[in-house]
Amino acid sequence: MTNPLTQTPTWSALSDHAAATRGTHLRDLFAADPRRFATLSIEAEGLLLDYSKQRVTTETLRLLRELWRAADVAGWQARLAAGEAINHTEHRAVLHHALRHQHCTPVLFEGRDVMPDVRRVLAHIKSFCDAIHGRHWRGATGEPITDIVNIGIGGSDLGPRMATQALAAHRHRDVKVHYVANLDGADLAMTLADLQPRTTLFVVASKTFTTQETMQNAHSARAWLVAALGEAAVERHFVAVSTNLKEVAAFGIDTANAFEFWDWVGGRFSLWSAIGLPLALAVGFDNFVRLLEGAAAMDRHFREAPVEENLPATLALLDVWNTNFLGAETHAVLPYSQSLGLLPRYLQQLEMESNGKQVGRDGQPVGHATCPVVWGEPGTNGQHAFYQLIHQGGRLIPCDFIAARTADFALPGHHQKLLANCFAQSEALMRGKTLDEARAELASAVPPAPTFLAPYKVFPGNQPSTTLLLPAIEPYTLGQLVALYEQKTFALGALWNLNSFDQWGVEYGKQLASRLLPIIEGKAAATGLDSSTAGLIAACKP
Ligand code: F6P
Repeated sequence: MTNPLTQTPTWSALSDHAAATRGTHLRDLFAADPRRFATLSIEAEGLLLDYSKQRVTTETLRLLRELWRAADVAGWQARLAAGEAINHTEHRAVLHHALRHQHCTPVLFEGRDVMPDVRRVLAHIKSFCDAIHGRHWRGATGEPITDIVNIGIGGSDLGPRMATQALAAHRHRDVKVHYVANLDGADLAMTLADLQPRTTLFVVASKTFTTQETMQNAHSARAWLVAALGEAAVERHFVAVSTNLKEVAAFGIDTANAFEFWDWVGGRFSLWSAIGLPLALAVGFDNFVRLLEGAAAMDRHFREAPVEENLPATLALLDVWNTNFLGAETHAVLPYSQSLGLLPRYLQQLEMESNGKQVGRDGQPVGHATCPVVWGEPGTNGQHAFYQLIHQGGRLIPCDFIAARTADFALPGHHQKLLANCFAQSEALMRGKTLDEARAELASAVPPAPTFLAPYKVFPGNQPSTTLLLPAIEPYTLGQLVALYEQKTFALGALWNLNSFDQWGVEYGKQLASRLLPIIEGKAAATGLDSSTAGLIAACKP
């Protein structure tokens, strides 16, 4: 059965509405309604979400909100909060919100409050941060730690890596945090090239503690350390973050130095857990707590705000509109902030690993498009690379512009120019430039420009975008921002009838790689391979 939502009268009404409004240009909608910004923007929790440059009318929003109710997103929120195993294919509850829960009320999992465990691990993170920052934790030669290397991949890397860069203005001055993820030895080798074993500590971060990339990098890092300081140094230079303490011990890490988390935390939702340890080390425990508080505030907003004023709900419904009714296949995330430069990459995992699926909760194809391809780069850099295509390439590319009202690095003259560029881009994408306007512009140029250029200077416009303004990029607002996208992702799962919390799509490649490895190592015969795979392997033989 297809997604039941597609069988509702509201879905059909939205299809008809999309067909009827297809010819309407955003510039006409703005011209017709001087209050469009006031009507189609939300100010909540200190954030401003301007979606007036989306191709929507009040009727579109009325129908989308009707769809929201028909999908019973509130029911899914209640199931999530109650600790039901809503990740039904792995029979797991989804309780990452407990990691940032700010009240003394319990969060129940199988009848037991998880909060004492959450607080115990938070206290462990705090005492470890105190020991490293206070220079009480010493390496094997008695020297304090100056460099932390987080070894992890996917959710055990992208969140803390993105947040460490985002909060660069809050960085602890004595400790530098590095991230290694790639199986390519170049990643680890280039990182270690500048480090001293005596003053380096490794955080091996893996939910399962079996991930090939992470274990290979961890073993190579261990060999690097042992070659310089001997086997006994491992316990002073390695800590672990995992749900699998048995494997942590097998690797040789003292489980007293293991920071635990639980099966009910999905990898891509784990920034708030002990996976955030390198971030806490980079920016200080108090800032990590502010991040959790910001995320908790967004959770509360998502639970309590009516759909009309609800930030994650609005983002999710706009994605449904653009994807399922206007046919968008990609979604650009364009932070006008160097500090948020890794946000698009982080959101790629969050959104595409969660909702890049076709099979619905009932095991049948949902029967419609789901997660668009999420991509992006920080502005203004992207303007000098791919914006040409967004402006004149003829594709529908909804964009999220994200900016802060104030700069986190306040160099004179920079921030206002940055904001001017950000707002100019969304204006140009919305308004476009007609042939007549292009001709008039050429004619009035001094000296007059050749008229044959006019068609090249036409911009179709009508490219939808949303602009999210944060007061500043700091721990609390970053927590809000990430939780906003998390909740949007959850809501989209409910609307698209998907389980957003499994990731079977990453398994097949892993399975085939483990079959090919012995062949590449020369330990097994290359039988049963297609000619391309066999040819490539043969070409790599020494
Ligand atoms: O890519 C699949 C995946 O399971 C992600 O969901 C996860 O974040 C990543 O691998 C890393 O897994 P682990 O933390 O178990 O090493």
